[in-house]
Amino acid sequence: MVTHGSHWTLRSAEPADAARLAELSAQLGYAATATDMVRRLTLLAGDDHSAVFVAESDVEGIVGWLHVGRRQGLLTEPDAEIHALVVDERRRGAGVGSALVRAAEAWARERGCASLRVRCNVIRTAAHAFYRSLGFNCSKRQDVLDKLLAGP
Ligand SMILES: CC(C)(COP(=O)(O)OP(=O)(O)OC[C@H]1O[C@@H](n2cnc3c(N)ncnc32)[C@H](O)[C@@H]1OP(=O)(O)O)[C@@H](O)C(=O)NCCC(=O)NCCS
Repeated sequence: MVTHGSHWTLRSAEPADAARLAELSAQLGYAATATDMVRRLTLLAGDDHSAVFVAESDVEGIVGWLHVGRRQGLLTEPDAEIHALVVDERRRGAGVGSALVRAAEAWARERGCASLRVRCNVIRTAAHAFYRSLGFNCSKRQDVLDKLLAGP
């Protein structure tokens, strides 16, 4: 646990955090139920290549969360990627997001990752400014192509 003044601390997420993580996920534009989140958090708890950190205020509870993963590639040395990051819209601009990213960076360094990446939708221009302020630079732009596999 890392303490930031008397206001909030960072710790690893637990299944009991699921409902609040789901609420914040909706602010990111990804609807999820608490049940979905319990299932996913439980699966990730057993995955050494993944971590979920939360920022928790003693007054307001969880005010932000981040999911980071390590990937062993064939083309490249191991790297890490921020899969999701959201700070409660009422608590933005208070350093919560940058503390979560620094925690992800430390986690990735400890696991021998050569870099930390985030793929950020082009419409999230504020988030781009946020990441640039933390030393991230745009290395390329891509189209994302999905094929739905559900169904018979
Ligand atoms: C992006 C986000 C995670 C930033 O979290 P935060 O707690 O508000 O960020 P911080 O307070 O740690 O900001 C750190 C620095 O980033 C920059 N920054 C943060 N928000 C910014 C904004 N809206 N516009 C420009 N710069 C910004 C500033 O340089 C800031 O430093 P300062 O406080 O000295 O000005 C948060 O705004 C958020 O949850 N946004 C919606 C979801 C999202 O876009 N997530 C990222 C998806 S990839």
